Formats: sequence, C-alpha cells, structure tokens
Amino acid sequence: MGVGGGPAKSDLVDSFGRIIRDLRISVTDRCNFRCTYCMPEQGMDWLPRSAVMSFEEIERLAQIFVERYGVNGIRLTGGEPTVRAHLPVLVEKLSGLVGPDGPVNVAMTTNGATLRTLAPVLRAAGLSRVNISLDTLDSKKFHELTRRDQLEQVIDGIDAARQAGFDPVKINAVIQRGVNDDEITDLAAFGREREVEVRFIEFMPLDATGHWMSEAVVGQAEILDIISSVYPVEQIPARGAAPADRFRYLDGAGMIGIIPTVTKPFCGDCDRVRLTAEGDFRTCLFATEESDLLAALRSGETDDQIATRIEAAVALKWAGHRINQVNFIRPDKSMSQIGG
Ligand code: GTP
Ligand code: 5AD
Ligand code: SF4
Repeated sequence: MGVGGGPAKSDLVDSFGRIIRDLRISVTDRCNFRCTYCMPEQGMDWLPRSAVMSFEEIERLAQIFVERYGVNGIRLTGGEPTVRAHLPVLVEKLSGLVGPDGPVNVAMTTNGATLRTLAPVLRAAGLSRVNISLDTLDSKKFHELTRRDQLEQVIDGIDAARQAGFDPVKINAVIQRGVNDDEITDLAAFGREREVEVRFIEFMPLDATGHWMSEAVVGQAEILDIISSVYPVEQIPARGAAPADRFRYLDGAGMIGIIPTVTKPFCGDCDRVRLTAEGDFRTCLFATEESDLLAALRSGETDDQIATRIEAAVALKWAGHRINQVNFIRPDKSMSQIGG
C-alpha cells in the first residue's frame, strides 16, 4: 500500500518501460469558439448526447486508472470543457478519487471565456489547476483566430482564475508563422506582468481543416532566440514527463514554457493516455487506433475486463509520433475530437 493509503497498485507500463501517470479526459467535443487551427467554421459533426460519456461513466473509468494503476493526474479537456453542463459536479466526483499515493490531482485546459463565473465554483469543487489558451493580444486578430470577439472575456477569465486562487495559471499560445509569430515578445511580456506562465506551443498537424504544413511551425530554438533577445532566460533542468521545456527569466520575473512537439519530440518521457468524449481510449495524441472502453462498459463488462483492455492498449503504445517522417499518418480525429 502506498503513502496515501489507497488500494494496492500495479503500474501501467508500456513496452518501452514508460509508466502511465496522467489521464486526459475529454468531457465534450463541442466548443464555444471556432479556432482556425482546430475547427472549421461550420460543418463539424457533433456527437449525439447519448454517445458522450455520462459523469457516472467517466467516474467509473477514471476510478480504474486511479485506484488500480496509480494514475495521479487527471486533466479535463474538450472541445471546451466548460460548455459541459454541471462540470463542477464532475470535478467534485473526480477530485474525491484516491489512489495509492493519495488524492488525484484534477486540472483543466480551457479557452477561459467563462472563467469569470466558473473559476470560483470549479475551485470550490476541488479543481487544482487551469491552463488557458490565448494566442494573441490583438482583439482583431483574436476575432479572426477564434471566430469570436471575446478577447476581453478571456483576459478577464485569466484574472478570475488567479483571483479564485489557481496557482500556477498557465497560458497556452500556439504559434503559427505569419499569424502570431510577431507577438511572441508581447505574449512573454503579458505573462511577466500578470504573473502567469506563458507556454509557447509548436503548431501540430491536428487541425480539422488539414491546413497544417511544416513551414507554419515556429520551432523552440527560434522562439527562444526571440524572447531571450529582450528578456534573457535560462533553462530549468528536469522536465520530467511534462510536454513543456521550462525557462526562467534571469531578472526573476517568472518563467515560460515551450512545447516542442515538432522540432524536439518528448515522446521518450511520455506518461499520458487519453479518453475521448465518446469513451475511446488513445495511448498517443497522434494514435490512429483506439480502444472503445465506453462500449465495453455499456455492454456490462466488469472492471477486470475493462482493465484487461486498458493493459492491452497500453502494451501497444507507440515509441512516439512520426510527424517528421515520410510515413506520418494524421489521425482521422482532430484536436477538438481528441482533447489535446
Ligand atoms: P501541464 O500539466 O500544466 O504541463 O499541462 P499540459 O501541458 O500537459 O496540458 P495542456 O492541455 O495545457 O496542453 C498544452 C499543449 O501540450 C497542447 O497543445 C497539448 O495538445 C500539448 N500536449 C499535451 N500532452 C501532449 C502529449 O502527450 N504530446 C504532445 N505532442 N503534445 C501534448
Ligand atoms: N497544435 C498545437 N496546439 C494546439 N491546440 C489546439 N490545436 C492545436 C494544434 N493544432 C492547443 C490549444 C489548447 C490545447 C488543448 O491544445 O491551444 O491550449
Ligand atoms: Fe506521448 Fe504521443 Fe504526445 Fe509523443 S506525441 S508525447 S507519444 S502522446
């Protein structure tokens, strides 16, 4: 039995020796924004409500990961997780789960637009951290990028998250060449002023419209050069299993992260698995195969039977994505259907 006093643990280990500790759960495929790098303006086929996992189904699956396998972090994603009705109820259920090392840590990735109202409620329900997407500080560009005129709400949402006691609050900025690469320094300055950690994300081939091309990727080295010419930084060692490399400002004004999926893949340290809103289990963001755990659950399978499916899928987890290779195959689901 572990330190926190939960049930007996058996690690979920893949064939490369990586231990799974982090589960990303998409709670909806819907979103109140239409970011150009993620969704088309119209024409997404939404899942019917009956195909989406209920809170009870999410809880049952999450419990297997936490109690049986020692998964200690759950991140709620979407689509946009906050458009799911009664989300705080789910947060309360999940943050009550206890694994061998103690209570599970429940976090969320959001576009931030509804946080003024929701941040305190989610905090009270037990949510531990929020990451908020913000790709531009220019309201016209924000409108073009998200197809919504809501920059002010998002910035207010970031402030609301801080005021509700979330710490750290991280900002996710996907950088696309010719779109917002001219704002890298401004975004860094925003993070320094607001005391939030801005993470610059290399654009990945997961957009719904398939317009990704390698020329649109602004790589880690270039991002670092641009920032450090204005605000010198040094790397913080020990990245662990997190996707971000982290750097601190030499003048003490906080830190930044860079998520270098394309130019410096971090798959060797990956500890993540995913459940889509329709209960498909994915062992890689770029996976082309899934295991339908919701169908198994709805057909009446026991926890042991579902666990056997989970172990079989994890045994097949890839060494890593192949974005930079000629045999790269894009998954047929896009970001909002996978959960990021
Ligand atoms: P922290 O726990 O705060 O480090 O969160 P996170 O960075 O793991 O999660 P978040 O949802 O904020 O994701 C930030 C970016 O990292 C998004 O673009 C995700 O798609 C990407 N990301 C998250 N996990 C993975 C991963 O396993 N592989 C790759 N390539 N990208 C990932
Ligand atoms: N490449 C990189 N990051 C992306 N995100 C959405 N689409 C992409 C993409 N094509 C980010 C969002 C959000 C997180 C879940 O994934 O900005 O922060
Ligand atoms: Fe893990 Fe796949 Fe992301 Fe690589 S691309 S870090 S293997 S989820």
